[in-house]
Amino acid sequence: MAEQFYVKDCWYVAGTAEEFPSEKLTGQVIAGKPMVIWRTKDGEVVAYDDRCSHKRFPLSKGRLMPDGTLECAYHGMRYDTTGKCVMIPSHPTGPISPQAQVRAFPIIEQDGLVWIWPGDPERADTAKPPRMPEIGDSKWETITVGPMNVDANYLLLVENLLDITHFYPLHDGNIGDIANSRIPIELEEGENDGYNYVMTIRKTTDYEQPPYLVDWFHFDKVDRHHTHCLVSPGITRVVMRNAPPGGLEQRDVEREFPGELKVDGNERGYVLIHTHTPVDNTHHTWRVLVNCPAQHMSKGDSNTSTAKRVAEMFPEVAAEDLWAVALQQKMFEFPEDGYSEVFLKPDLALRRARKIFQDLHRAEIAAQEKAQAAE
Ligand code: FES
Ligand SMILES: [Fe+2]
Repeated sequence: MAEQFYVKDCWYVAGTAEEFPSEKLTGQVIAGKPMVIWRTKDGEVVAYDDRCSHKRFPLSKGRLMPDGTLECAYHGMRYDTTGKCVMIPSHPTGPISPQAQVRAFPIIEQDGLVWIWPGDPERADTAKPPRMPEIGDSKWETITVGPMNVDANYLLLVENLLDITHFYPLHDGNIGDIANSRIPIELEEGENDGYNYVMTIRKTTDYEQPPYLVDWFHFDKVDRHHTHCLVSPGITRVVMRNAPPGGLEQRDVEREFPGELKVDGNERGYVLIHTHTPVDNTHHTWRVLVNCPAQHMSKGDSNTSTAKRVAEMFPEVAAEDLWAVALQQKMFEFPEDGYSEVFLKPDLALRRARKIFQDLHRAEIAAQEKAQAAE
């Protein structure tokens, strides 16, 4: 994988709903596009090009006026929520050129997340953001870890998330469990809601849980299904279902989405929603939304919810992953010189994930070339 890239025609998470309080301007870069994003007085979230159409000054450094327009901090051009300039202070009466307009980005708020389509707006209708039903459902407790800035191409994080064999030694001392990394992997692939997905499944029976999983999920010995699914280029879902031996619901297809984990049964576990949003080729933004059934408390501390205990562990684990992927990224600066990566058997899902990204990237390039040829 000498070539690094990101997919532009995709719905990416720009933040949780709470990250966009009313009338607060935020500047972000998503897939190479600078954007100003905010929630209007009426509660709608809008996003457009952060570069003022006049002299590229970042509009996110401007301010919102009482009439809801955004005023550029440099020469004061004002834009409405669609990105159209509606007032120029130095030409109060003159006509406003239609060029005085910034491009708005397709945006959808759904399941407590704000999704943005940084790519070709004409293609935004080809897919909908994947559903994340646990977020905002009162039967679930959701805790967000992040946003974290990652100094690496987002595919390096996706590979990290799909790969449990790095738990030992990278996470030795917290979630590292060498027995875990030896559990055979099943692979499931398919298409869901317009996205090709790849999922790894680790099934164990009569498994002696490490102490931290006993604390989170109570049972000392379990039957367990642990799945890691690349849902779309922007989302990876990790689901762990535990039940006392013999008590785990068996399924033909592991992906029974939504509701992979039943909140009211005898199973305990979590749904981790990882959002990986590319900034550029060598940076991305990572959030982890930890979801556990709201009534589940930790075994070690019955006053602390399972979700809270899981989320508490995350910053330490994430720091190790951040360290690893940033160091990997640095190595891409060297010429290949005949270098090639060795693929191990457990890396099969990584290979499939890369293919999903590559296919989407190629399709994008082909579409661009076709559009250019038609011009
Ligand atoms: S740069 Fe924004 S008004 Fe001049
Ligand atoms: Fe990790």
